[in-house]
Amino acid sequence: MYKLLNVDGRAKRAEVHTVHGVIQTPVFMNVGTAGAIKGAVSSMDLKEIKCQVELSNTYHLHVRPGDDVIKKLGGLHKFMVWDRPILTDSGGFQVFSLSGLRKIKEEGVYFSSHVDGRKIFMGPEESMQIQSNIASTIAMAFDECAPYPATREYMQNSVDRTTRWLKRCKTEMYRLNSLEDTINKKQMLFGINQGGTYEDIRIEHAKVISELDLDGYAVGGLAVGESHEEMYRILEEVVPHLPQNKPTYLMGVGTPINILESVERGVDFFDCVYPARNGRHGHVYTNFGKLNLWNAKFQLDDRPIEEGCQCPACKHYSRAYIRHLLKAKEMLGMRLCVLHNLYFYNTLMEEIRDAIDKNEYQEYKNNKIENML
Ligand code: GUN
Ligand code: ZN
Repeated sequence: MYKLLNVDGRAKRAEVHTVHGVIQTPVFMNVGTAGAIKGAVSSMDLKEIKCQVELSNTYHLHVRPGDDVIKKLGGLHKFMVWDRPILTDSGGFQVFSLSGLRKIKEEGVYFSSHVDGRKIFMGPEESMQIQSNIASTIAMAFDECAPYPATREYMQNSVDRTTRWLKRCKTEMYRLNSLEDTINKKQMLFGINQGGTYEDIRIEHAKVISELDLDGYAVGGLAVGESHEEMYRILEEVVPHLPQNKPTYLMGVGTPINILESVERGVDFFDCVYPARNGRHGHVYTNFGKLNLWNAKFQLDDRPIEEGCQCPACKHYSRAYIRHLLKAKEMLGMRLCVLHNLYFYNTLMEEIRDAIDKNEYQEYKNNKIENML
């Protein structure tokens, strides 16, 4: 259930009620591809750094340890000891970005596992069955994230197939949610808008999928090589054609500035590997831009990463110490940087929500971006 609390320009402030609790939006989902955020971050840590939603991948969990194993152990919430919402991506994107050989057919995708090369088939029904076994709060529809750039003909065929797949996902999800031994019988389904940078294909697709009355709608196939300006333009064109009384999720985006710009264009869910990946490389976010803690200038710097930050790293440790840990290849170095970065993103979202509540979004955003640049 989506409860719209306030609208400031096009920016939306809402609550999404799920069986695993309420999500305050706009929200950033913290990416734990294989059931953990990379960088030795536990589910207990996630609570401390204000994570509302954890995101995992259908494809990875299917390949290892196997969704059958997760189901036998009571579902992913129990397995990873996390009682708040989990969103699973459908496998569509990962199959295209990770596995080597693959063949797209009407029934689904044939590909080989990135772990052991074993041949796997995944179609809409399989993706829904795996996500049902994982028992995530929100399942994503099985789609094709078309390559960029793609010809108009390729894109139209791909989007048409993604629409047919979406209808099969909906039917299968309905069936699975009514089975006796399904762990989460209230699993939600989000559809995914595609169409690359062809706005007419995107708008037409948005209209068609909006009629399917799904629990939410994602904009996929962005941040795949097009410019930021092009991405913002697509959002401006497409988001108004998706239901306003449902969550809008921009997949795989992005930098703090991308998020600030996209909230202004009506997006309320985000996910991205940047904060964890940058953290593992010693690159940390602050309100005055990113710092590279490997830099020699931090050798004797006894200040926290960011003055006033309440994250587990900044509450206790100095830049100099974390820099030393990174250079000594101590795991704690990476871990502290990842915790700080995720806390930074989750706090940014909290500020964004406050600003929309107060109808001050535009001013807040402009200030924030100016300081970060
Ligand atoms: N993650 C980032 N982009 C996409 C997309 O287009 N589809 C899916 N399923 N996941 C994504
Ligand atoms: Zn911090």
